[in-house]
Amino acid sequence: MKFDGAKIGRNDPCWCGSGKKYKQCHQTFDDKLRGYAAKGAKIPEHKMIKTKAQIDGIREAGKVNTDILDYISEFVVEGISTGEIDDRLAEYTAKLGGIPAPLNYEGYPKSVCTSIDEVVCHGIPDHDRILKSGEIVNIDATTIYNGYYGDASRMFMIGDVSPEKKKLVEVTKECLDLGVKEVVPYGFLGDVGYVINHHAQENGFSVVREIGGHGVGLEFHEDPWVSHIGVRGTDYLLVPGMVFTIEPMINLGRADVETDEIDGWTVRTRDRKPSAQWEYTLALTESGVEILSY
Ligand code: MF3
Ligand code: CO
Ligand code: CO
Repeated sequence: MKFDGAKIGRNDPCWCGSGKKYKQCHQTFDDKLRGYAAKGAKIPEHKMIKTKAQIDGIREAGKVNTDILDYISEFVVEGISTGEIDDRLAEYTAKLGGIPAPLNYEGYPKSVCTSIDEVVCHGIPDHDRILKSGEIVNIDATTIYNGYYGDASRMFMIGDVSPEKKKLVEVTKECLDLGVKEVVPYGFLGDVGYVINHHAQENGFSVVREIGGHGVGLEFHEDPWVSHIGVRGTDYLLVPGMVFTIEPMINLGRADVETDEIDGWTVRTRDRKPSAQWEYTLALTESGVEILSY
């Protein structure tokens, strides 16, 4: 078992960058993790552990991101174009002193993702795409604020939505909430995906496998990768200082997805049946899980 806290002397500066001596900072923490590693647990690398100061920064970015989603919510109604949602989000983000992380991210052309019905995620806003009654849409916002990142998404139901789509949206939110409950100190990341997949299947839905949650905070996408179809007691040990998203994509029909070959971004269900997603940014601290953006 690789353990990257092993070589530091007691009086050396701590690996976390706090400036404190190792023995007065993360040494006890590392000793505890070494105990778990000895029992076979997969221990997160140091780069996955944030300091209190970093979590404070990510918390502020998360609050701004939540504020942006709250603001945009009232515009997500029948008759608006997704392009206008993007414009309004970009304008409000600037007003708050933030930067929309999606814009120019690996060539992504807009400030937010707007994913309607069979679009699983990464839907590109478009002034010609008007929201219609009966559609379900995910708005996924990520904001850079003071150099830190917050990432969250919500579902919206436009006008009269069919009972099966409504159930899909509600069960997907339940999946996220069940996953969050598994985020406890010294639990396992695999437990998160396990409960999500179990709840989705119990309701006759399927879980997207190829796209997962992710570490977040200092960059848009960091380790670990968060599967939404995990196995209990497997994957990384969950330790205080980890900051990551849970963002299950749940399909009404089959799990398979494909990416648009022309725009390179839009992910759709292969069977073109609807998909829903909710996302939070979470921090795990000694006292438990904290939702940093929702
Ligand atoms: N916000 C998405 C996520 O939750 C990522 C979008 S990448 C983009 O990870 F480029 F499409 F914006
Ligand atoms: Co997101
Ligand atoms: Co995300």
